[in-house]
Amino acid sequence: MKIALGSDHAGFQLKNAIQKHLIEKGIEVKDFGTESEASCDYSDFALKVAEEVKDKNFDFGILVCGTGIGISIAANKVPGIRAALCHDTFSAHSTRQHNNANILAMGARVVGEGLALDIVDIFLNTEFEGERHQRRIDKISLIEQKYNK
Ligand code: RB5
Repeated sequence: MKIALGSDHAGFQLKNAIQKHLIEKGIEVKDFGTESEASCDYSDFALKVAEEVKDKNFDFGILVCGTGIGISIAANKVPGIRAALCHDTFSAHSTRQHNNANILAMGARVVGEGLALDIVDIFLNTEFEGERHQRRIDKISLIEQKYNK
């Protein structure tokens, strides 16, 4: 499994903790920045990670900003991206089963590191259920197509 990681300054420390956690589990990770706590724009890192996931260079992306909101909104502008903002394990589990989410977004100012790492583990280890959920996702793609002409 290959994971693309990205954050802004507010998510920098949690991103590093996630990277360490995944490496310890033997999971391949690439960090797309940011590289310090200097102020930067979450949209830049959302775009990098979302394009890598869209192009299927990575199985999943993980994005962190202060709230997780800005970075998930930005990532979801890339066609084919289903970025889910999750601050609890039930949502992480459900968004994989039902939405086939391909990016997990979290807010470093919202969740502690311990919960965030549990959310990561559950997100990465839960399979999409398909069936009726695929039909709904296909309709999301139709919305993208309607506005991407
Ligand atoms: C940065 O201060 C903050 O606005 C950003 O990390 C994020 O929370 C935006 O949604």
